[in-house]
Amino acid sequence: MKLNIALLAGDGIGPEVIDQAVKVSDAIAKKYDHEITWTPALTGAAAIDAVGEPYPDETHEICLAADAVLFGAIGHPRYDNDPSAKVRPEQGLLKMRQKLGLFANVRPTFTFPSLIDKSPLKRERIEGTDLIILRELTGGVYFGERGRKDNGNTAFDTMTYTRHEIQRLAKKGFELAMTRSKKLCCVDKANVLESSRLWRETVQAMEKDYPEVEVSYEFVDAVAMRLVQWPSSYDVMITENLFGDILTDEASVISGSMGLMPSASVGEENRLYEPIHGSYPQAAGKDIANPLATVLSAAIMFEDFGLTEEAQEIRAVVNKSLEEGIVTEDLSEGEKAYKTSEVGDWLAANI
Ligand code: IPM
Ligand code: MG
Repeated sequence: MKLNIALLAGDGIGPEVIDQAVKVSDAIAKKYDHEITWTPALTGAAAIDAVGEPYPDETHEICLAADAVLFGAIGHPRYDNDPSAKVRPEQGLLKMRQKLGLFANVRPTFTFPSLIDKSPLKRERIEGTDLIILRELTGGVYFGERGRKDNGNTAFDTMTYTRHEIQRLAKKGFELAMTRSKKLCCVDKANVLESSRLWRETVQAMEKDYPEVEVSYEFVDAVAMRLVQWPSSYDVMITENLFGDILTDEASVISGSMGLMPSASVGEENRLYEPIHGSYPQAAGKDIANPLATVLSAAIMFEDFGLTEEAQEIRAVVNKSLEEGIVTEDLSEGEKAYKTSEVGDWLAANI
């Protein structure tokens, strides 16, 4: 297969982890006789520095022309403590999600057998966890009306959802549930928020189209608790943008390191693969960040192209690296810590 992939490394550790995913993907391509053309493009603070804006038109054109986008991370501390900054790297990410129509963010959480005792949660709590949070990605409070009034002394952000936005996300949730254990949990705050009541009403109305799927409705605060108490009780979860942002960071703790969790952001036409972690600026340039979340994001990419065996091989070699202790410092626990690039080399060499 010929694949044209846009490569958006972004900021912080982005370029380092992306390099490893490229190494691994190229090794897979070589072994299985595929041809990958990587087209790098600017995004985030790196793009602001170069051209004054975080998601330049040229980058958008490259993404549109590609079969998929592989994305690293976005964010720079220079902007975090400057609330008055006019352009921010994160705006690039939001603009990209919106312009590419990536309304569904698929964030799986699972455990790795060799890491189960590295999770801060007890083994008996997390064993068997295999859940997917389907986060709505182009609506809600991230994109609703916002502003200041009262001479700047009052600020507001609005959580807005249309029935259509909820339906298209929920449809993906139902379909995903049908391929798994046929359990779907709709996470909302319908006891308080009107937008959540529209979510519940919309999802309830769709239940008849998927009679085999057992749907539960839970409030987000209760889910935040049960997610760490009894994560294996969940399977597919659907939720709005901000709730999903928060719950997926929480869920990443289950696996033992945030550096392990991949994701896919998909729409009707475009697909983007990215680790769920951020740009981790403290580690940038040090060759210490865990590349596995990005490598596993590339695995989802292969799977989505129908290249299941290739995806399985990436997952298998990742598991092997964990079992053999070829890990970065976040997982090394006093044992030898490998560099980001060494982990990438090892993975590629073992394919
Ligand atoms: C994520 C990140 C982003 C988000 C930030 C960097 C804007 O936290 O992808 O989860 O909030 O969506
Ligand atoms: Mg987040």
